[in-house]
Amino acid sequence: MELLNDLAGPRGPTRAGAADDGARPADTGSAPAGAVATARIAIVDDEPINIKIARKYLQDVGYRNFVTTTESLTALELIAREKPDVVVLDIVMPRVDGIQILQAIRADPLLQHIPVLILTASTDVETKRRALESGATDFLAKPVDPSDLIPRIRNALIVKAHHDHLARYSEQLELQVRQRTLELEASRLQVIYCLARAAEFRDNTTGRHVIRVGRYCSLLARELGFTPAVAETLGLAAQLHDVGKIGLPDAILHKPGPLSPEEVLVVKRHCEIGHSIVAPLEDAAWQELQSCNDMWLVSPGANAILATAALIALTHHEKWDGSGYPRGLSREMIPIEGRITAVADVFDALTSVRSYKSAMPPEQAVTDMEQRRGAHFDPRVLDAMTRRLDDFIKIVAEQGEAKDPVCLIPFHR
Ligand SMILES: [Fe+2]
Ligand SMILES: [Fe+2]
Repeated sequence: MELLNDLAGPRGPTRAGAADDGARPADTGSAPAGAVATARIAIVDDEPINIKIARKYLQDVGYRNFVTTTESLTALELIAREKPDVVVLDIVMPRVDGIQILQAIRADPLLQHIPVLILTASTDVETKRRALESGATDFLAKPVDPSDLIPRIRNALIVKAHHDHLARYSEQLELQVRQRTLELEASRLQVIYCLARAAEFRDNTTGRHVIRVGRYCSLLARELGFTPAVAETLGLAAQLHDVGKIGLPDAILHKPGPLSPEEVLVVKRHCEIGHSIVAPLEDAAWQELQSCNDMWLVSPGANAILATAALIALTHHEKWDGSGYPRGLSREMIPIEGRITAVADVFDALTSVRSYKSAMPPEQAVTDMEQRRGAHFDPRVLDAMTRRLDDFIKIVAEQGEAKDPVCLIPFHR
């Protein structure tokens, strides 16, 4: 309502300057105020006197911002440049007529919302029909009468102001949605990384291992022909490959000496524990969670990262020849996500310093892994790693253990 009141303006004529051209002062009882007082009005008419009269009537009630032309050929250019709030447009003009200009305005996405009042002496019904079909907002009869002109201009400006208000509002909303989406995306990446790091800290490493494995996996996925979006999902999800270590007992995880066969079995359980930690919730569990929250939550099925992470947690220790764990899957029975992570994880383990070993040079790590081609590793993934070895070496250099804080957005390169 506030907008409407502001646009309707105060009642009673506002005289601005003397009426020195013989035209009658406005007696319509409507005057502009606020936003409308600054409204830009374009008048296009090949007769200068018609422009002068219309302008005079409008000035008499306070309008101050005009763009006018008698040249129909360049009228559209003027309108496009000046972006008026309303156009008063003559129909019958030489070279380019008003209908053609009106059609061009309606065809231009940047101009099509501008109200256009058709100014014509024509009583021809056909002309009016064509103007209406072409998108005319209203008609003004020549010779123009202020009691006709002023309220119609005011009404057109109210409509235009509403349109502008809505356009600004929707622009702001779009901006807010974009901002919130970025924030959500950033917090989602951080939550994944924090969870991965929590597992890494249990293993006495720095958290960089998960960053590097994620990057290697993303690179391998792209090299194997996956889309950038899938490769990014895989790279993020692979950070959680060892999240199941959270569920292992300290006594085994931090045991200084070699593990007993029973303890090795416990360690191997980190695959299934990890899977159950990150697997998207079943529908019933999700509904129960949602009933505890007043907010709407995205369906669990929509979370591709967690679904991929669950798959990777379960299968990253499977081996190509079937000798891995926990299921003893072989060849293509092992999901490609698990086969990719197996290569990335072992490459990183070999090329990283641990308390019990020094780092192996990347080329030597590749030679070492080549000896397990077709036994531990999928040959196709191993080939992809060899082709991208230069990029792997860059990641070793950039994300090595000696460097300072890790990059939380590692996959957008
Ligand atoms: Fe593992
Ligand atoms: Fe690992």
